[in-house]
Amino acid sequence: KREAGKTEVAEPRNKVPCPAPSLPTDPALYSGPFPFYRRPSELGCFSLDAQRQYHGDARALRYYSPPPTNGPGPNFDLRDGYPDRYQPRDEEVQERLDHLLCWLLEHRGRLEGWGENDSLEKNLGYSWGPGWLAGAIVTWRGHLTKLLTTPYERQEGWQLAASRFQGTLYLSEVETPAARAQRLARPPLLRELMYMGYKFEQYMCADKPGSSPDPSGEVNTNVAFCSVLRSRLGSHPLLFSGEVDCTDPQAPSTQPPTCYVELKTSKEMHSPGQWRSFYRHKLLKWWAQSFLPGVPNVVAGFRNPEGFVSSLKTFPTMEMFEYVRNDRDGWNPSVCMNFCAAFLSFAQSTVVQDDPRLVHLFSWEPGGPVTVSVHRDAPYAFLPIWYVEAMTQ
Ligand code: A3P
Ligand code: MG
Ligand code: MG
Repeated sequence: KREAGKTEVAEPRNKVPCPAPSLPTDPALYSGPFPFYRRPSELGCFSLDAQRQYHGDARALRYYSPPPTNGPGPNFDLRDGYPDRYQPRDEEVQERLDHLLCWLLEHRGRLEGWGENDSLEKNLGYSWGPGWLAGAIVTWRGHLTKLLTTPYERQEGWQLAASRFQGTLYLSEVETPAARAQRLARPPLLRELMYMGYKFEQYMCADKPGSSPDPSGEVNTNVAFCSVLRSRLGSHPLLFSGEVDCTDPQAPSTQPPTCYVELKTSKEMHSPGQWRSFYRHKLLKWWAQSFLPGVPNVVAGFRNPEGFVSSLKTFPTMEMFEYVRNDRDGWNPSVCMNFCAAFLSFAQSTVVQDDPRLVHLFSWEPGGPVTVSVHRDAPYAFLPIWYVEAMTQ
């Protein structure tokens, strides 16, 4: 068996073509101790409005407002308003890293020499300040979530485009042909199910702290609040952004990201087998998504076959692993994080040339290793000219 993180390079023998390096994804290769992961800190935020326009502020942040615990409990009709009060985002628009780059551009001055500079990080050579960004990886939280769950994923592959520019490694997902075909052929029931996830947010969130949710309005999935975070996985400094559902004004700490709450819906479960399957599959995705940005709690609404939510359950992110710790077919956070660290090392050593028009495309399909291909300019290049030019000034 190959070792985790080692790439496959054939011996230079006669008539044997040297295969391009690839990275295996088998869970067994990544079961070491949990790697270092710096407590994520929020660097800033931005909002996208109903027209999907960027604003460098928290205007789209909503406030956690669950039904009163002494009352009758929830009875949310998640199908209400579908499809007449639904404004879905245009999924044909490939936004890539654009909104995050917009934030980076706005903050690049302050980015170099901002915040605390703890001496431990300084001693390790990961100091925050001039030059930090040049050594960092910039991406979306959602892309990292996919990396974390890769060793356990059996259904959907992914492609990540990578470019190095001024030292920084940028990672931007590319929709696979299979994912595109699935999206274009999405069955009506799945479309409605997607709506229901957003409708649940509307029942659970208020626009102002202390006020109540208003489920009478439209569900517009262009609107988003995004947190921008800094962390480090092993030796990889990270700057990533993720969409945040809401903040809890009553949280023990009002400091982001620990005040943030992730909302989720799931099918109501009735048998131990259904719960087991939920712990093995859904909880892994929930954990990966919320662990990365340090969101401490996921609040689940369980819907019945008619689309009504009558029960809620809070899953603390740091307790999710307990549900599968003793399950032979469960998942392991160390495997997820070790694989992610191995992929980031693989990407860092593969993308050597500093060139915003050059793209290394990392591709993965379940059952296989991560492979690489090289491209220039369209259609894979993703760092926009306005970003490259502004950063070159
Ligand atoms: P649920 O996951 O609660 O059903 P998020 O939970 O990440 O905040 O996303 C909000 C909702 O967007 C989801 O609610 C779901 O309805 C929809 N959604 C997110 N990712 C999706 C995906 N990959 N495929 C389909 N729907 C998705
Ligand atoms: Mg969300
Ligand atoms: Mg959510």
